[in-house]
Amino acid sequence: MKNSDKPLVKKMRGHDVAPSAMFAEFMKNGWAPTPLTGIVQDEVIAHCTARREALSATFTKLRLVIPSGAAKQRSNDTDYLYRPHTAFAYYTGVQGVEANPDAVFVMEPNGSGHTPILFINPRSTRDTAAFYTDAKNGELWVGRRFTIGEASERYGIEVREISELQKFLKGKKAAALRGFDDLVDSAVSEHVRDAELVEYVSVARLIKDQYEVNEMQKAVDATHRGFNDVIRALPAAVNTPRGERVVEAAFFGRARIEGNDLGYNTIAASGSHACVLHWNRNDGAVNHGDLLLLDAGVEIDSYYTADITRTLPINGKFTPAQRALYMLVYEAQKAGIAAVKPGEKFLAINKASHTVLAQGLIDMGVINMSLEEVMDPAVGLHKRWTLHGVSHMLGMDVHDCAQARADQYREGILEVGMCLTVEPGLYIQPDDELFPAEYRGIGIRIEDDVVVTENGCLNLSEHIPHHPDEIEAWMASLR
Ligand code: GLY
Ligand code: MN
Ligand code: MN
Repeated sequence: MKNSDKPLVKKMRGHDVAPSAMFAEFMKNGWAPTPLTGIVQDEVIAHCTARREALSATFTKLRLVIPSGAAKQRSNDTDYLYRPHTAFAYYTGVQGVEANPDAVFVMEPNGSGHTPILFINPRSTRDTAAFYTDAKNGELWVGRRFTIGEASERYGIEVREISELQKFLKGKKAAALRGFDDLVDSAVSEHVRDAELVEYVSVARLIKDQYEVNEMQKAVDATHRGFNDVIRALPAAVNTPRGERVVEAAFFGRARIEGNDLGYNTIAASGSHACVLHWNRNDGAVNHGDLLLLDAGVEIDSYYTADITRTLPINGKFTPAQRALYMLVYEAQKAGIAAVKPGEKFLAINKASHTVLAQGLIDMGVINMSLEEVMDPAVGLHKRWTLHGVSHMLGMDVHDCAQARADQYREGILEVGMCLTVEPGLYIQPDDELFPAEYRGIGIRIEDDVVVTENGCLNLSEHIPHHPDEIEAWMASLR
């Protein structure tokens, strides 16, 4: 059967419901009105207004189109959980489960500035057939959505039906975020300032205000509770063949109960899996005597996410070899955090941590040259065990502001309000013969989320234990 021949109403619980004219009429009547009352604007809306003013001032007289993006197909008619484009959320204030696929935000020039207009798939009301026939947007399929009026009340801007968008954009020039929405890509021709818009909306998030720092703190605190859940689940993980899945599931439970979702796929890496940087198969055993490297973050409803790593001894006690390596990473992280201050280079964080790690590797006898020689970018032998950079911006995306230019970010200068991770690690592959046997297969990372302040930085995850003694006490307290 071709798609176009399919009955309007799909199979419901095994019954084909054919929409006879009588049925269609029958479905229109007998429903009580169900208005939403008490709609309030979230705290973010005032910030969205300011964000839009800055956007408007940069793109004077130019129409801007920022789609929320389509749902991503998982298989056949099953999609992944929907999450809107970060820029769309940042400028509209749409959050959590309120976000629906295929919405589009337009900044329409109005002479002196821009009028913000949000195009959405609104509630399918009972006078339409869509509420029971449209599996993508119909109320009986996906639940109650805002009407146009309700959405306007909630977000404080003009809202229109998405079905009007094509006509609205027809023949008009606009800069757009392309590649997220087929309708936008076909309705809007490429514009010379498209790339500038992509970069601008990413850079706009480099400096976090107090509202954003508060949201980040909420994400970190929820993540802390998720780590507590994992520690409580460790005995079950040890007794389950794919114990890493027990770890992953314990954290995911917290992310979904308290937050919107995970900020990224959890890395639940037990034993030598910690030496695989993006280990998210998470299908390994969790064994006493090994370390668990847990890199996980809760994304809260405002879409701000934490990005935290702790490396925990599964039986609650570090071995001497584990502790020795751990202390090296611990000192490297302290040096990295000490380098975070306004006016300092972003790359100074990396240098500070890597200098400590390189010196430690020299002291352990696995590198036989001076610190100066090792740290020469043309040499850099320590990277065999440090593998990755020590810091990245963090916010509504785990790797936030990724479209910023090198001079604004990677080769840029730290400013008050930037939020970033400090996450040095050491990874001794299980087959690395340069290290004594007792160290092989140990991977350690410590990752915290900090905000640059006038005097240095505020560590939002300071209260999640770092030192081996604190970690042992933390784990004992939760057993
Ligand atoms: N969890 C991803 C990262 O640490 O960058
Ligand atoms: Mn990170
Ligand atoms: Mn991480």
